[in-house]
Amino acid sequence: MKSFDSRFFYPSISLVATVRNWLSLALGMIVVLLVASQAPDARALSVAQMTVNGRANPLGIAADDISLAWAITAEVRGTVQGAYQIRVGTKAAGDDVWNSGRVVSDRQVDVTLPGDLHLQPATRYFWQVKVWDGAGVESKWNAPAWFETGLLSPADWSGAKWIAAPTTNTAAPRPLLRDVVSLAKQVKSARLYASAHGLYQLSINGQKVGDEFLAPGWTDYNKRIQAQTYDVTTLLQKGDNVIGAALGDGWYRGNVGMSWRDVYGNTLALVMKLQVTHTDGSTENFVTDEHWRSADGPFVQADLQDGENYDARLEQSGWDGVGFDASSWKSVTVVSDDLTKLVPRPDEPVRATEVLSARTRTEPKPGAYVFDLGQNMVGVARVKLPGKKGQTIHIRYAEELYRLGDRKGQIYTDNLRKAKAIDTYTFAHNESVTYQPTFTQHGFRYIEITGVDTPPATNNVQGVVLGSDLSDIGDLRLSNPMLNQLVSNIRWGQRGNFLSIPTDTPARDERLGWTGDISLFSPTACRYRDTRAFLSKWMDDLRDAQKPDGNIPAIVPQPQYQFNETGVGWSDAFITVPYAVWHATGDTRIVRRNWEAMKRFYGFVHDSATKDGNLLEEGRNSWFSGDWLSLENGKYQRLDEHKVIATAYFAENTRMMAEMAAALGETNQAAEWAALVPKIREAFVAAYRQPAGAIYTGTQTAYAMTLGMDMITDAAQREQTAGKFVEKLAADNFHLKTGFLGAPWLLPALTKIGRDDLAMRLLLNDDYPSWGFEVRMGATTVWERWNTIRANGEFGPVDMNSFNHYAYGAVGDWMFQKLGGLQMVEAGYKKSHIAPLVGGGSLSHAQCHIQTPYGSLASEWKLANGELTLAVTVPANTSAEVVIPAASTEAVREGNVAAVSAPGVKGATFKDGKVTLRVGSGSYKFVTRRQTSAKQAMLEGLDNKTH
Ligand code: BGC
Repeated sequence: MKSFDSRFFYPSISLVATVRNWLSLALGMIVVLLVASQAPDARALSVAQMTVNGRANPLGIAADDISLAWAITAEVRGTVQGAYQIRVGTKAAGDDVWNSGRVVSDRQVDVTLPGDLHLQPATRYFWQVKVWDGAGVESKWNAPAWFETGLLSPADWSGAKWIAAPTTNTAAPRPLLRDVVSLAKQVKSARLYASAHGLYQLSINGQKVGDEFLAPGWTDYNKRIQAQTYDVTTLLQKGDNVIGAALGDGWYRGNVGMSWRDVYGNTLALVMKLQVTHTDGSTENFVTDEHWRSADGPFVQADLQDGENYDARLEQSGWDGVGFDASSWKSVTVVSDDLTKLVPRPDEPVRATEVLSARTRTEPKPGAYVFDLGQNMVGVARVKLPGKKGQTIHIRYAEELYRLGDRKGQIYTDNLRKAKAIDTYTFAHNESVTYQPTFTQHGFRYIEITGVDTPPATNNVQGVVLGSDLSDIGDLRLSNPMLNQLVSNIRWGQRGNFLSIPTDTPARDERLGWTGDISLFSPTACRYRDTRAFLSKWMDDLRDAQKPDGNIPAIVPQPQYQFNETGVGWSDAFITVPYAVWHATGDTRIVRRNWEAMKRFYGFVHDSATKDGNLLEEGRNSWFSGDWLSLENGKYQRLDEHKVIATAYFAENTRMMAEMAAALGETNQAAEWAALVPKIREAFVAAYRQPAGAIYTGTQTAYAMTLGMDMITDAAQREQTAGKFVEKLAADNFHLKTGFLGAPWLLPALTKIGRDDLAMRLLLNDDYPSWGFEVRMGATTVWERWNTIRANGEFGPVDMNSFNHYAYGAVGDWMFQKLGGLQMVEAGYKKSHIAPLVGGGSLSHAQCHIQTPYGSLASEWKLANGELTLAVTVPANTSAEVVIPAASTEAVREGNVAAVSAPGVKGATFKDGKVTLRVGSGSYKFVTRRQTSAKQAMLEGLDNKTH
């Protein structure tokens, strides 16, 4: 049965999400009745993987939209959820806040708490779930999980004031702030709530508070400033305690984008509240106010793009500890109060997620020591170096080394444009120190150190990886090293560019929330990391940036109204990003929260496309609405293609909105939009398809989008255009030429016209231009351009050339779905289609998994000794159709029995050399003799060609 979209495998639109849910529940119950002979006992059925707003046990969140999800672990195949019960209490295992009672439902994702619970600020709530399977077997209550609310309104800050150093000199060293907190009683628990204009790092009694970096993260500070919550119970002691804060420029007043400064203001400030609960139950609050003291600190410069300048001679030893004499420190000033903008940070913080050790040291010019971490990464260096009093060392960062000429082996930094990316450390004493910058971030693989007397040892140089700490949920491993490296490059691109917001590049003077880049990459991003909280936070940023006409700017957050103009393929992120998250997870929260704003944006798109009385989008144009950086274009793009791209996007937006409306239960709206989709497609074909089948400009992108997005509904017309597409590829010697907008559709379009062989051929190319070429040239992240490095080792155009730009990594979605074989039939893999492209391109093995909100979904296939083995794991309360190339249904075995008779297998069909098995949850291992169908022969022909 075809159901709704899996982007390119299942193009039709479902209008009956609600009905379908009920149907699947009913079906599931029937299935369980069928396997009731081996019904589980309560021990074998349990609840796991509990998340709140897409996060495990989140500390310090808003209370207005709590959304729960859980997975079920079950020993018996074909388990479904027949009912659930939730209890929420202020004590573990309590239900003083809410008890849902037994709810007959198979729903496990985006289960919301009633809106009238009046959750309190700064309160920890425990929650538990128990479930009944389809046969009525009841689980135990699981171990309690929790969420804790942050401060929810200005009043909750207990009069905390924004405080700043008493100077207007923005060139002064960045300030330190401190206060003494005296506690007369023993501490039972304590929370610290804080935020800043600029960046802040807090300490208590000399110890860093929390494990976050670059707090409070980036938002449009004119509208919304995130506050962090820290559990500081163990840092406090009875008696005197000192709270210290160091401030840095960050996005607030440092360099942002193309060297825009002071975007939100020029005064660094801190706001904080410490709430202490004593063992006797009493509570005390301490807040930032005029009693705090301030002094210049050792951070002479603290800029995200230019780097940090740390002068240890300005350190005041023990400044954030008890017993320090702060009498020379000055009183702080109180700055204007905007507590109303404070919101609890809703997503994962930026953390140090890994530390890479330098592998080699070279000295490409005298006194300049270059260390190679082996991986292009985002973060800062950690160096242990000896030095003399007053000696200054410079740490520079680069993604690449010159490969040619006199400077061969030296760091290449021209592509950073105005971002200086230099950290500087000045020694206070003759000593050895370990220095790790606090208030900056760089994109780099190489670290250059100058100013030292002796060459630093390789093992004293490390790279600390910083990024928003999203859970790692998926991976794909193949029997092809080049493709594995490509997957790794895509994953590192996501890690580095997901830093508080999704950015285009982490290195040069840009690092902006370009809407187009994440619009294209979000389906891939959702395969590898749990993006629910991170991208939902960015959707808050989009809402903040939405214009009165419903449109959004090209970059979000949008500093200083830069790139206010917006174009097709970029602003559409307002629809494509929530769609990608919902589609990957089945979690409707990101859609619900933004629905009204998304509808306003869609209204803008719709009005623009229909204002001339047709359904062709010829407006919504700006200087970057074409296929950015395509090889068939001018310098950046070709604008005469805009109409094709824009009208195709109009159809896609409409399709996605229809599906999301159905998921929210807005069936009339869903039906209306769904009915519009074919009409847009017909108008598109009438306008842009020539009688012989060619598409308008005849570029690869025009064909890829037309066929990938199902713009041609007539089978004969489609086949004719498919032929033209293949002709075009042949004319291009079967090498890609697409830019940002076309690249994600290239392989899906080939799959849709039945040419997986050509898709594999493009994917396996390793000469220019191709994904493989980047890998062959040594890339460890995905490049911005196909020619970021040329075959002769020269670097591409310096005006815009990043080595870590995830847009072309959008191919990761096709790889995951086709090579890993995990495709979606219903959102969140409630129903999946497991159909790996067995044997394509000489592959003999592929392993793929994703931790869905329902649990782990996995597939692993292997060709060996004339046998095909396909092992799959399907989460409880979901189902799958598993497609296996085989001679007949009987030729497939599972365990010791014929697959069709195996427990959990619900039926089988055989067609065109493939067996499709319908299975319920559980782990299965299918084995069959290897088949060589006509298609397989075609793929093997390809094997011969490419190897
Ligand atoms: C960015 C791109 C972005 C583009 C749009 C570039 O400078 O790095 O990724 O999408 O501009 O114009």
